[in-house]
Amino acid sequence: MFPIYRTIGLAISGIVLIMAAAAVGQTVDSETCLNCHEGYDAELAATAHALLPPPHRIALQCASCHSGGEQHIEDPLPTNIGNPAALPAGEVATLCRDCHVPHAEMNTTGFDPHAAQGFSCLSCHSVHQGQEGLLLDDKTEFCGRCHVAVKTAFAGRSRHPVADGVVDCLSCHSFTGTTEPQFGHGASANCYSCHPEQSGPFIHTHPAAISFAVKGGGCIECHQPHGGPNDRLLNQPGSTLCLQCHGVPPGHRTTHSGLGLKWACLDCHSDIHGSNDNNKFLDPDLGTILFPDCYQSGCHIFDD
Ligand code: HEC
Ligand code: HEC
Ligand code: HEC
Ligand code: HEC
Ligand code: HEC
Ligand code: HEC
Ligand code: HEC
Ligand code: HEC
Ligand code: HEC
Ligand code: HEC
Repeated sequence: MFPIYRTIGLAISGIVLIMAAAAVGQTVDSETCLNCHEGYDAELAATAHALLPPPHRIALQCASCHSGGEQHIEDPLPTNIGNPAALPAGEVATLCRDCHVPHAEMNTTGFDPHAAQGFSCLSCHSVHQGQEGLLLDDKTEFCGRCHVAVKTAFAGRSRHPVADGVVDCLSCHSFTGTTEPQFGHGASANCYSCHPEQSGPFIHTHPAAISFAVKGGGCIECHQPHGGPNDRLLNQPGSTLCLQCHGVPPGHRTTHSGLGLKWACLDCHSDIHGSNDNNKFLDPDLGTILFPDCYQSGCHIFDD
């Protein structure tokens, strides 16, 4: 039986393992399988696993993934053929790893949050029924199979347009590491790629927006990445957002009859991501339109 072959091979060396797989590959020709399993070649041809005969470097055959073909063609019982769907997770991984070093960058940098979960490759991939990337579902549905709470967040009042198909989970969480490994955890640096306007660089940067050194730092100090009840994906409503980190400066209670308390922080500090005009992130129009006297009076220096 194929699994025994494989175990012996594994015990001796990786190279023997590959030779064992190749030997099985030669035993039963895919044409024989297709006599009874019509259409499976066409279906595979539409995916990355198109069947290719030798001398291709990777000669893909039905037998590359299905062991025990000899018994099965004589007595075509389902139990006489290896079906990866019936194998434990470890054996599926061994089978797939004959040809793949899956998610290599993610695993080696420790950024694949799923690596330690003991999943089977087939928890996420399907060879015959797979969608794009051979994932079990369409990209907009796939991750939500398991992450139900996150899926629910995307139904919040304010949300990233995942349900509309404009962005998907993989826009922010990469599992191949081909772009940035830290995207596996949704690192905020990724926000920059789609929101350059809020990302700067600015002459005066609000440190909150760039504190990526800590988990949960940077843009997500103030924004929910997925969705939530507050406008603009904010994690707190109104001025409460600012009071997470700031006290109200004493001058705000006293100056101009406590105007700094009566208004919302954002009414005046509107360039909250950063400013090229002043280091308090004040609305550039504050001095000219709202309070013509603020700067002309000489009490405030606008571009300090
Ligand atoms: C003589 C016809 C015949 C040939 C040749 C044949 N099969 Fe099958 N195969 C069947 C039948 C019949 C079933 C059972 C279908 C069912 O129960 O729905 C089956 C079932 C299977 C299953 C499902 C096993 C399971 O766990 O349910 C796989 C996988 C499979 N075949 C692969 C192959 C491969 C690979 C080859 C070539 C090595 C092959 N078959 C050759 C007739 C054949
Ligand atoms: C790259 C690996 C791979 C190759 C090549 C492959 N299969 Fe499969 N096969 C699987 C996996 C994995 C499953 C389990 C279901 C799934 O993931 O789609 C499966 C399931 C099946 C089943 C069970 C019914 C079903 O559709 O799920 C049949 C029948 C089958 N394969 C036949 C074939 C035949 C015939 C070929 C060659 C034309 C072939 N397979 C080539 C990996 C492979
Ligand atoms: C005999 C070799 C072989 C085996 C075994 C094999 N694959 Fe592949 N797989 C390939 C080749 C070749 C490609 C195409 C690679 C490329 O285009 O760079 C591929 C591509 C893929 C892709 C990328 C699909 C895409 O659209 O980008 C996934 C996912 C994948 N395989 C999953 C699996 C899984 C899961 C298994 C185990 C059930 C498996 N493979 C077993 C040879 C194999
Ligand atoms: C938790 C879900 C999950 C598990 C478990 C998983 N994958 Fe993936 N895999 C993905 C996602 C998501 C992608 C990226 C798809 C895309 O970007 O379109 C991917 C991409 C791939 C690719 C193509 C890109 C690459 O990195 O080469 C291969 C091949 C692959 N997976 C093989 C495997 C194998 C083999 C296993 C089992 C050892 C496995 N995967 C387990 C989710 C998973
Ligand atoms: C088969 C179920 C399954 C699928 C499919 C799946 N995940 Fe997960 N994921 C888990 C489990 C289980 C954990 C670890 C437990 C936890 O932290 O929630 C996890 C962890 C994570 C984490 C880390 C959580 C943390 O707190 O650090 C992220 C991020 C993540 N998954 C994103 C995704 C994305 C994006 C997809 C789709 C590409 C996906 N997952 C597909 C089950 C799954
Ligand atoms: C706009 C970018 C973005 C999109 C789209 C996105 N995420 Fe996230 N995700 C993040 C960021 C950033 C974090 C880190 C949050 C933190 O550290 O507080 C995160 C955290 C997570 C976590 C761990 C923390 C938690 O909230 O449970 C999971 C699981 C997760 N995302 C799954 C998903 C899934 C599933 C999807 C698609 C349905 C998705 N994400 C879409 C950016 C995104
Ligand atoms: C793949 C592109 C992409 C990435 C990455 C991305 N966004 Fe977005 N974001 C969008 C799109 C598209 C919209 C909707 C724009 C619209 O409706 O005009 C949006 C909207 C927003 C909004 C406004 C929501 C509202 O209710 O008006 C905020 C806030 C936001 N994103 C913050 C972030 C943060 C923080 C990150 C990083 C965790 C991030 N985005 C990553 C594409 C992205
Ligand atoms: C200190 C808190 C804070 C941080 C940190 C922060 N934002 Fe914001 N962001 C806000 C507030 C408050 C608004 C709403 C502004 C308004 O409604 O006028 C907003 C609005 C947005 C919008 C919607 C813009 C619009 O015009 O509708 C986007 C997109 C956005 N932020 C992206 C980001 C990105 C990307 C980062 C990281 C570089 C980031 N934010 C960091 C507080 C913050
Ligand atoms: C995650 C924490 C955090 C949040 C939330 C936050 N800030 Fe800040 N902010 C900082 C840090 C850190 C600094 C730089 C240290 C300092 O000068 O106090 C800063 C600096 C400032 C400054 C310049 C201070 C100076 O003395 O020059 C202003 C003005 C400011 N923030 C306004 C706001 C407003 C308004 C909000 C709400 C929309 C807000 N901040 C939300 C962390 C935060
Ligand atoms: C009516 C407009 C206005 C409102 C509302 C306002 N601020 Fe200010 N804030 C200012 C001005 C103007 C300055 C600059 C003072 C100066 O240069 O002397 C300032 C300065 C600051 C500073 C820098 C420290 C300091 O004492 O100069 C912080 C931090 C700050 N504001 C936070 C907040 C927070 C938090 C809120 C909401 C609770 C808020 N502000 C509401 C106008 C406002």
